[in-house]
Amino acid sequence: MFGFMEQKSGEFVGVDIGASSIKLVALSRQGKGYSLQAYAVVTLPAAAINDGNIQDSEAVSEAITKALRISGSKAVQAITAVPSSAVITKSIQMNSAYTERDLEDQVRIEADQFIPYPLDEVALDFEVTGPSPLPNLNEIMVVACRKDDVEQREDVITEGGLQCLVVDVDTYTLERAVNFMLPPSEDDAPLVGVVDIGASTLTLHVMRGDTIVYTREQAFGGNELTHSIHSQYGMSLEEVEQALRAGELSQEIHEMLVLPFRSTVVQQVSRALQFFYSSGAHSEVTRLLLAGGVANIEGLAGIIEEEVGVPSLLANPFNDMAVNSKVNRVRLERDASALLKALGMAIRGFEE
Ligand SMILES: Nc1ncnc2c1ncn2[C@@H]1O[C@H](COP(=O)(O)OP(=O)(O)OP(=O)(O)O)[C@@H](O)[C@H]1O
Ligand SMILES: [Mg+2]
Repeated sequence: MFGFMEQKSGEFVGVDIGASSIKLVALSRQGKGYSLQAYAVVTLPAAAINDGNIQDSEAVSEAITKALRISGSKAVQAITAVPSSAVITKSIQMNSAYTERDLEDQVRIEADQFIPYPLDEVALDFEVTGPSPLPNLNEIMVVACRKDDVEQREDVITEGGLQCLVVDVDTYTLERAVNFMLPPSEDDAPLVGVVDIGASTLTLHVMRGDTIVYTREQAFGGNELTHSIHSQYGMSLEEVEQALRAGELSQEIHEMLVLPFRSTVVQQVSRALQFFYSSGAHSEVTRLLLAGGVANIEGLAGIIEEEVGVPSLLANPFNDMAVNSKVNRVRLERDASALLKALGMAIRGFEE
């Protein structure tokens, strides 16, 4: 009856379920861009996530509730993602004359050949990406993942007090956030490397123009540093985590543990790039964007640039974005590099 009752808040939250924390980003529209309404980072118990899998659903949904409360967001609809390691993607060709319904059936038949699980346990999605070079065929990108992985994420979001609008794939959410940050360049589509260094995983994504063309994970991350500080200096993991993020560790710990760890990070980034080049890449990565919590180690971008020889930049997707005055700007500066995926998830909400 009254139009205003139908109004939606126009705000979407991205919920990134990482190995060490829940990261929540709430966005609304502002003109052609977005406005950051609220965000929160809430630490998860050490065993809640393992290898990208949710082990303790209750702990995860409690952390989501807490993140929502701390952020103060009133948003209802959320977007999250499954890790790319849980997803199988394959490009196939299909007759361009198929109706949408036929196409769906044909994709299922085709998918059965390359998916190692019974089809009824699989969540399947596909997109026509364009005409194939072969006549009368379209290129179709098929994305498949176990239903369990999707449902488990939907459940923790719902239990956490939100409605799950979409479960995306984390690579796509990162791609979306980077495209928002770096509008595609007009020139010959240079290769940009995005290195996400989290608590347990370092991932190198390489983008050509606006598309991720390569992704590889290495089992390396900030946990190595936090655990060594914890065991050598008798601080609890929570204390270490807090002191690290606030830059409040003693000079001694900084010199004995943080600086050597920073050198290891540089070696790991260099190794990730070598893997990329040995995979048959023809052109060079001309720029590196550093994301994830570990990217905040003081001076990291400069040293990578010096030792690896690629211009590097700490990712801050909120530099040019309107930010609600309730958001603490000092903290945001510190947390920004870890919020990239959550941002890409929230942006997805506006594309539905
Ligand atoms: N200033 C800092 N210096 C060093 N390490 C930091 C700093 N700030 C955060 N970290 C580390 O970054 C990690 C958290 O980063 P992030 O939130 O990107 O990880 P995650 O998404 O939970 O993990 P993953 O991506 O591996 O699943 C923690 O290990 C934390 O100790
Ligand atoms: Mg992460």
